[in-house]
Amino acid sequence: MGSVRVLLMVSGGIAAYKACFLARLLMQAGFSVRVAMTEASTRFVTPLTFQALTGQPVATDLWGEGQSQALDHIEYARWADMAIVAPATANTMAKAANGIADDIVSTLLLAFPGPVLMAPAMNDNMWAHAATQANLETLHTRGVATVGPGEGWLACGTVSHGRMSEPEDILAAAQEMAAVLEGSGSGENTPADGFWSGKRILITAGPTHEPIDPVRYVANRSSGAMGFALAAAAVQAGAKVHLVAGPTSLLAPRGLERLEAVQSAEDMAGAVAVALEAGADWIFMAAAVADYKPSQLAAGKIKKEALGPQWSLEMTPNPDILAQVVPKHRSQDLKIVGFALETDDMMQRAAAKRRAKNMDYIVANNPTAEGAGFGVVNHQVTLMGEAGVIWHSESVPKGQLASDILKQLADTEKEI
Ligand code: CTP
Repeated sequence: MGSVRVLLMVSGGIAAYKACFLARLLMQAGFSVRVAMTEASTRFVTPLTFQALTGQPVATDLWGEGQSQALDHIEYARWADMAIVAPATANTMAKAANGIADDIVSTLLLAFPGPVLMAPAMNDNMWAHAATQANLETLHTRGVATVGPGEGWLACGTVSHGRMSEPEDILAAAQEMAAVLEGSGSGENTPADGFWSGKRILITAGPTHEPIDPVRYVANRSSGAMGFALAAAAVQAGAKVHLVAGPTSLLAPRGLERLEAVQSAEDMAGAVAVALEAGADWIFMAAAVADYKPSQLAAGKIKKEALGPQWSLEMTPNPDILAQVVPKHRSQDLKIVGFALETDDMMQRAAAKRRAKNMDYIVANNPTAEGAGFGVVNHQVTLMGEAGVIWHSESVPKGQLASDILKQLADTEKEI
């Protein structure tokens, strides 16, 4: 794939001015960018600004009237590889969640079949409103990724939740999306001539959130990128993929059989058990499952006064999905691929973990090594099996790495 084509859609909030910086950052990062704006957003920033930044006509209405150059009303939806809505107002999110197409941005969103990233920005009460949260959930279920909103100074004069993420953070999320797209879109890395075709693959991805009380949780820094990249590569290779994802801001790859969003390790364990009962040929446990959860879930928000000057949180073990749940529900010919994150003695520990958890294969990586790690686009792993090391990868984008892992596994399986 050449440079990834991003349709940046700007809806009407004060954060529209930050979308100008985002357009600039996206272009500097090598994306091709075109812009569509709602009528309301043109009150905050002029289309001319985006036109000057991108060198391209800006779509501002369905009729081509206010535009520098007449555009077919869904031309940009056909052109783009991915879409970013920044800022995404409550109104634009509501329209997107309900399939309403009454302006250029909502129409393009409905016409665009590819991955969408939204950066919500709105007043804190609007964000917290049950309607917005329900719309958000609908959008997530359909695979729309979101970044933010964060806490900070809002234009309505309060410091609260609802502020659009910084352009740098939106860029980082866009780059992760693009890494998945590049892994799945080119076809160049299609692994192993039909080996994966029709295989039922269960993939877990992302972190888990272990609730402490209604507003707090224990989590880890997994982005979910590796599991999502594997899911995209497996779909590309013709597999039937069921992706069970902990909380992430990533887009769901196109073509999944099923996307199941879960929160806690226990939710994930339940989803895996049900999916294995329904039948699977492979499971890839790429999720960074929390090993422990708070022993007690408080019904109300725990107050500082109740906690005192220090807080020790008692934790109890979570189910180990690979060690406990998978064996109970595994069919005989299920192949198991686990992942190991090790900062010391990576090879020995990963080999021991593979045996201990009865995995067929383990993908080991050291997040502190050069060319690997959290939140970075490139990644490097070692694939190990029964007979020891199968393959050391180069440091490459996660999308490519995922395709390469599938190819290595297919080659190894064919030799067995
Ligand atoms: N895993 C799991 N259930 C858990 C924890 C981990 O299924 N509760 C899976 C992970 O998805 C991964 C593999 O087990 O595929 C190895 O995870 P890791 O956390 O490295 O293993 P642990 O045995 O928890 O290792 P450590 O003692 O290093 O934390």
